Amino acid sequence: MTKGTPQTMKAWVQTDDYGLENLKLETAHPVPTIDDSQDQVLIKVQASSINPVDYKLMKGNMSLFMKRSFPHVVGFDVCGIIVAKSKASKGDFKVGDVVYGDTGDRGSCAEYMVCPSDFVVKKPQNISAEEAASVPLVGLTAYQGLKFKGNIKKGDKVLVLGGSGGVGSMAIQMAKIMGAKHVTTTSSNVELVDSLGADQVINYKEGKWEVILNGAEYDIVFDCVGGGWERSHQVLKKGGVFVTISSEEENGPDVLSIGRVFSMVGNTIGRKAMAAIGMGPNYEFFLTNAGAPKDMTEISEWIEARKLRVIMDPTSPYKYEDTKDAFKLLMSHRAKGKLAISW
Ligand SMILES: NC(=O)c1ccc[n+]([C@@H]2O[C@H](COP(=O)([O-])OP(=O)(O)OC[C@H]3O[C@@H](n4cnc5c(N)ncnc54)[C@H](OP(=O)(O)O)[C@@H]3O)[C@@H](O)[C@H]2O)c1
Repeated sequence: MTKGTPQTMKAWVQTDDYGLENLKLETAHPVPTIDDSQDQVLIKVQASSINPVDYKLMKGNMSLFMKRSFPHVVGFDVCGIIVAKSKASKGDFKVGDVVYGDTGDRGSCAEYMVCPSDFVVKKPQNISAEEAASVPLVGLTAYQGLKFKGNIKKGDKVLVLGGSGGVGSMAIQMAKIMGAKHVTTTSSNVELVDSLGADQVINYKEGKWEVILNGAEYDIVFDCVGGGWERSHQVLKKGGVFVTISSEEENGPDVLSIGRVFSMVGNTIGRKAMAAIGMGPNYEFFLTNAGAPKDMTEISEWIEARKLRVIMDPTSPYKYEDTKDAFKLLMSHRAKGKLAISW
């Protein structure tokens, strides 16, 4: 136990086998302790936010790769105060610093959590803890997708599929910050994506984007919905890149079965081979790299310079005891911004 911290805490815990019904609020869960031989910090959580990966993991849809042992405290995104550091901690932090980050699946939906110190950076001062907790996972995904997978350059034309979602709303703004000259997005929430600086919005309920944009010569298509690969050929310029974080089908199945993984790997190899011989666009599927303090620091600078906004759903933040209501809204795919939890 760390001096000054209680022995038990409130935490949203997956208690047993996979399934949302096994997500329970425990009121006397043990507070985690730091391991002095590892580079770790103990955080008193002020706010967390939830992401689709949280419910996909809770349902066991990714258990092929990310096996959980139970009980398991859920949650990736955090903002909170450092209350202790391990002896091996390398981070440039002191006790009392307020930090935020995507901590991986390390249990941010709780009063306290432990994570490696390079998974958090100091919180920007001009946003609330709830706004800060809403940034890391979606912010890193948009940043890494555009910068490292899309190799975005000044003057590029970018199409963001699913611009009103957590990742999409960051990607529209970041594409502009990184120098894109034109950003188009697809969304049914036209007013919101307009306000983020999109140059052109296509309401996918009123027309097919690949038809409306046929021949438009985009440098990058960033797919945050799924199902855009074949269609992107009609809009990408020669040498353009299709970047995706999502399933093959639009809003496709969440379950990562062996069959689906084989088909994704096969498709990736085939598509990259075709691109290498000039027979198709480049294809990039990637998973977010959470321990990326350099990326988080640049994101923080944009927030502090008021170039990057955090979009919160009007119902957000939720009280910690109402976390399941936040999950229900997230799973309905009708949230209009990020869903944060106050602790
Ligand atoms: N590979 C990775 O490492 C990684 C990282 C982060 C996220 N992801 C995955 O990426 C996906 C998006 O994440 P997120 O956090 O942005 O989710 P989100 O906040 O729930 O956003 C989903 C958005 O998709 C849009 N949408 C739904 N159906 C659509 C359609 N038919 N056409 C166009 N847009 C549609 C919705 O926008 P409208 O309101 O306009 O309908 C919604 O805002 C999730 O599946 C998530 O698991 C993967």
